[in-house]
Formats: sequence, C-alpha cells, structure tokens
Amino acid sequence: MEALRLQPPQGPTLLRPSRSRLASQILTRPHYNPKKSIKRFINATLSKPTAGIPSMSTSSSPPHDNPLRSSMLSSPPYPVKKVSANSLQYPSGYLGAVPERTVNDGDNGSIINAMEYLTNILSSKVYDVAIESPLQLAPKLSERLGVKVWLKREDLQPVFSFKLRGAYNMMAKIPKEQLQRGVICSSAGNHAQGVALAAKRLGCDAVIAMPVTTPEIKWQSVERLGATVVLVGDSYDEAQTYAKKRAKEEERTFIPPFDHPDVIMGQGTVGMEIVRQMQGPLHAIFVPVGGGGLIAGIAAYVKRVNPEVKIIGVEPSDANAMALSLHHGQRVMLDQVGGFADGVAVKEVGEETFRLCKELVDGVVLVSRDAICASIKDMFEEKRSILEPAGALALAGAEAYCKYYGVKGANVVAITSGANMNFDKLRVVTELANVGRQQEALLATVMPEVPGSFKHFCELVGPMNISEFKYRSNSEKDAVVLYRLVLLRF
Ligand SMILES: Cc1ncc(COP(=O)(O)O)c(C=O)c1O
Repeated sequence: MEALRLQPPQGPTLLRPSRSRLASQILTRPHYNPKKSIKRFINATLSKPTAGIPSMSTSSSPPHDNPLRSSMLSSPPYPVKKVSANSLQYPSGYLGAVPERTVNDGDNGSIINAMEYLTNILSSKVYDVAIESPLQLAPKLSERLGVKVWLKREDLQPVFSFKLRGAYNMMAKIPKEQLQRGVICSSAGNHAQGVALAAKRLGCDAVIAMPVTTPEIKWQSVERLGATVVLVGDSYDEAQTYAKKRAKEEERTFIPPFDHPDVIMGQGTVGMEIVRQMQGPLHAIFVPVGGGGLIAGIAAYVKRVNPEVKIIGVEPSDANAMALSLHHGQRVMLDQVGGFADGVAVKEVGEETFRLCKELVDGVVLVSRDAICASIKDMFEEKRSILEPAGALALAGAEAYCKYYGVKGANVVAITSGANMNFDKLRVVTELANVGRQQEALLATVMPEVPGSFKHFCELVGPMNISEFKYRSNSEKDAVVLYRLVLLRF
C-alpha cells in the first residue's frame, strides 16, 4: 500500500490516499436484487403482479428489465447542476419547494412500487436492534404555540439516532455467505454507529471509513461497537471513495447511508410507528432531511395509509439540497454545504430518495442555525435531553411553520432524530439559543478609530439593554464591536 499508514496503538487505521488513487469511482459488487428480494415477498402478499423498485448502484439488475430503472437512466447526465444554497431562500416557516405533481402521479407504475415499500416496511426486522421509540407530548412548547407538539424520540435509540433502522434492515437481508465477507461504509457520524451495531448483532465484520477530521468521540464510539475504523481522506467524499474501492477488493457489501430501498424501508418504520401511536387526527410530520432516506421512508408509508397527513421536510438554510432539487424538479448538487447540523450536511440527495420525495412530500421548510439552537434549548427544557443540531432540526421547522401559518389546535409531530452532540459545540449552541428565540440579537458594527466614535455609537444604541459587549481593534483605521441586545417583548 503506497499510502501513508499510521496505526496508533489502540486507535483506528489512519490512511491518506493520494488524489490519483481517489480519482476512480468504484462500485461495489452487488448483493441486492430488488426484483428478487422484494418480489419474493410481494408475490406472497399481493395477488396483483408488481413492478420492481428501481435498482440502485449496489444492484445487479440489468437496466433493461425494469421500466423505472430505464427512465432513470435516460434522465439528464449526472451531476445535473451545481447550485449555491443561497439561490433558494425563503422566510423561516414558509412551506417552499412544493413538488410539482402531474395529474397522473400516483396512477402509474410507481403506486405499485409504493405498495412494495409499504409491505416491506410492515415486515421489517429492525426491532432486532431498534426500539419502538416513544411519541411524547412537549407540553411547554405546545402551550406556547397553541398546537399539540409531539416528539418522536429517535434520540433514545441504542446508538442515539434512527440510523440503525436502515442499516440493519439492509444488512439483515444480505445472504449469509455474502455477509461473511463483511460490510463496509463511509460516514462521519450516525450511519457509522448504525452499521457497527447492526454488524455486531448479525455477527459480521464491519469496516467504517471516516474522514480524518472526525472527532475522537465519534470514531471511538464506533470502535467500541466492535467495528474497524479507518480514518481516511479529508472529506466524506474521499472516505466514500476509499470504502467503495475496498468493498470491491475484499468483496465486502457497501452499506449506503440513505440511497437504497432497503435503507429507506428501514427508516420508514418510524412512520409506521407514528401512525400506530398517534391518537386523533394528525396535521403534519416534520422530518429532518439530509440525503432524504428518513423522509422518503416515512412518506412511503404514511402517504399510503393516511394521505391527508402532510410530510414536511426541514433543512438548514445553508444545507438545502432537497429543497433546491424539488424546486428545480431534478437533483442538484450544492457547491458548498453548511456543516453546523453535520448529520444533514449533504451536498446531493439520493436518486431513489429524490424520486420518492418528488412524488410524496408536501414541501420543505428552511430554518436558521439560531432557530436550531433555540430548539435544542426547548428540548432541554421539555425533557432534559440534549439533541444534536440535526436532531433538533424538525422541531425548529415545526415551530417556524406553525407560527408562519398560524396553525392552532392541531397535532404535529417532530422527529427528534439524534443526540450525538459534539460536546464542544454546546458552547455555541447556548450562545445562539436566545438569538434563535428572538430574546436577544447578536450584532456587529464597524467603528472608525477616531475620537468620539464610541460616544456616537452609545448615542445610536440609546436606551437598549446590552447584555454582552466586545471591542476589537481591527486596524489603525477601524475597530469591530460585537454586542448582544436584549429584545423586550410587549
Ligand atoms: C441525526 C440525524 N438526523 C437526520 C439525518 C438525515 O437523514 P437522511 O440522510 O436519511 O435524510 C441524519 C443523517 O445521518 C442524522 O444523523
């Protein structure tokens, strides 16, 4: 191996492959044949013949034997378009990126396809590793908003996020001989832990490729679950390229984080539980969106059994790949993605997840970093639990939406999707939480370094209540003043 290889005594393997080695995109040897595995089940449960689910990159289905696959292949070349997150911004709480659906939607082959999702979700084996997470009322928030806010507590899962559902659902379907050759995935966080736990439960070997920037706390928890961690590359993309290459070399099965029917079906069990747990009419389910696996799975179930329930995606305004893709009617790639909510920092949503979202979701709400922090605080006040930013995203979206549309008296569900909070981030979160709740405003002013300008600044601020003040000399010409204003509510 020509790459630099360091092996800390009890730590993960550290690899920095050269750019040229990373250049080739490698697809794994497939194990998943959707026509076979899904049809076998469907044929036993449905009397009507069914269409196959479009095969993904890990599938061996030839393109010509599946009409949906053929239409996917004939779509414009990949990647379709590079766009900036700023090119689609709208007010917090507004339901944007509403997909345009044709009259025939739901009346073509894909509705049968949806039946396959439904029946596979119903028969999923995720409960070998996952719990049926509680659906809990958030009384304080409900009172403040005048709606009943229900929290679907996926942060209480054994690895503190929903991700083990999809990973296990896919891995449990891998034939035994293939599973013995092991699995591999790339992830900077929650998917890694899901795969590691699923591998432990199934007794197979797991390699997890993580970018070298992954915080120690994250790779350590993966190692503790018995997986082999390889720290490789400076970004998620590089880790993924390594993982796919090694999958091919060692005949391991690559477990994708979101873009695979079995992963989507596993995540869909969250929707199945909500429908079972919710008493009374439900207005909307708010779902955090990264690559789209969770929302696609939930929508695939809920829209078939309870179509009037709105399925609303929530994204940070600087990580809005799904909103932009729905807006353009095709998958687009972000030129840059905001990393604050790292669980959903995805440049490009999945092919299959986008197909399902385009058909089934009601739109996407965008929220700010401050609003996410405020929701982390709300959750702490409600349940004394600390969510990671991606885990609080749906709660922020639910609040913003209810305020924007003046929703009153309805039941809304927010998925609290994860609690793998990087401890160092807590400081920023507490700083921004009051800004997000609009109890404080954090402002910066550039002030000329001349006598009298500070006095002038004080006159301008007037009687406003300043709770924090920082003065930094910037150059001989000017200084930057950072200050926090307490906002009074009348
Ligand atoms: C905590 C958390 N919430 C939400 C998501 C988004 O899930 P998806 O990529 O399926 O949209 C992730 C993805 O890893 C996550 O870790």
